[in-house]
Amino acid sequence: MEQLEKNLTTIHIGNTPVRKCSTLSALFNTNIFIKEEFHNPGMSAKDRPALYMVQDAIANNKIQPGGTFVEASSGNTGLGITLIAKSLGYRSKIFVSKSCSDEKIDALQSAGAEIEICENSNGLHDFNSTQFRAQSYAATNDNAYFTNQYYNTQNIRAHYKSTGPELWEQTQGKITHFIAGIGTGGTISGVGRFLKAQNKHIKIWGVEPRGSVLRHFLKSGSMPDCLQPFEPIEGIGRNFIPGSLDVEVIDDIFQVESDDAKQAARRYAAETGILIGFSSAAIVACLSKYMEAMRIGRHDHVVLFFPDHGSRYISKLYAAEGQAIHYPQHIL
Ligand SMILES: Cc1ncc(COP(=O)(O)O)c(C=O)c1O
Repeated sequence: MEQLEKNLTTIHIGNTPVRKCSTLSALFNTNIFIKEEFHNPGMSAKDRPALYMVQDAIANNKIQPGGTFVEASSGNTGLGITLIAKSLGYRSKIFVSKSCSDEKIDALQSAGAEIEICENSNGLHDFNSTQFRAQSYAATNDNAYFTNQYYNTQNIRAHYKSTGPELWEQTQGKITHFIAGIGTGGTISGVGRFLKAQNKHIKIWGVEPRGSVLRHFLKSGSMPDCLQPFEPIEGIGRNFIPGSLDVEVIDDIFQVESDDAKQAARRYAAETGILIGFSSAAIVACLSKYMEAMRIGRHDHVVLFFPDHGSRYISKLYAAEGQAIHYPQHIL
């Protein structure tokens, strides 16, 4: 345990900056701040739950020294687990779906993960899903532990204990809206629980691709009668309800098209010179689409949660169709 704590002090996860975005603030006539999670060591917010899940497994003897951490991931959680596990002398086996970007696969491989690519990430009931295959692997291999971010309470806890308090402090309690993409639900549920406990009037809004089932579940408490295939936006949107989703603290969930997110990413790059991640772009697309209905005031403090960086999606977002991005003069 002492060695664990010593090694973990060398991994600096969290305490990422919140910066005001002048471009979006001017565009939407309010105060828009961005929580920049790509400053984490694995370049994503998912380092936070990865750390809590690994720590919990080791501290509670769910895995023995030298064992293998197993996870089903759109890539980012897998990378966080791989980096942390490796620094503590453990191995990692990560199951990703075929929609995972080449850049994330390269990063996972470089970090030393063993990777398996699966047909989909449709949840434990589907034999070809990342979740089912990860669970089977852990069940049939010695000293292998499935962190299972979709159902692990440490996922919500990581954001309740770290991201939520950071946001409250960094905005000096002035935050009025928090907007995040939803995949496992860990981010929005943990941050939402913390912020609602400070001020129940703060709006907690989620974003998902059109066709995902989470909005329907929030509104009706049930699954839709039939599931639609939907254009993926990496990291967000599901066709099952994850155990890490607490709809009690979510005020609304908005849906966007994958193509609108792609366009928003390219427009944002052209206007600011900054490459944002796919699910971050979905949040920007969501603001453009629903701004009027959202009724955000001029004096509000809106925090957008950007979980990762555009460098993970060059081939999907920025190099697409061979179109050049014309960057603004001030950054050239
Ligand atoms: C890029 C990206 N955006 C958003 C999310 C969703 O976050 P959460 O799983 O906490 O709902 C993830 C989760 O893996 C992600 O990788």
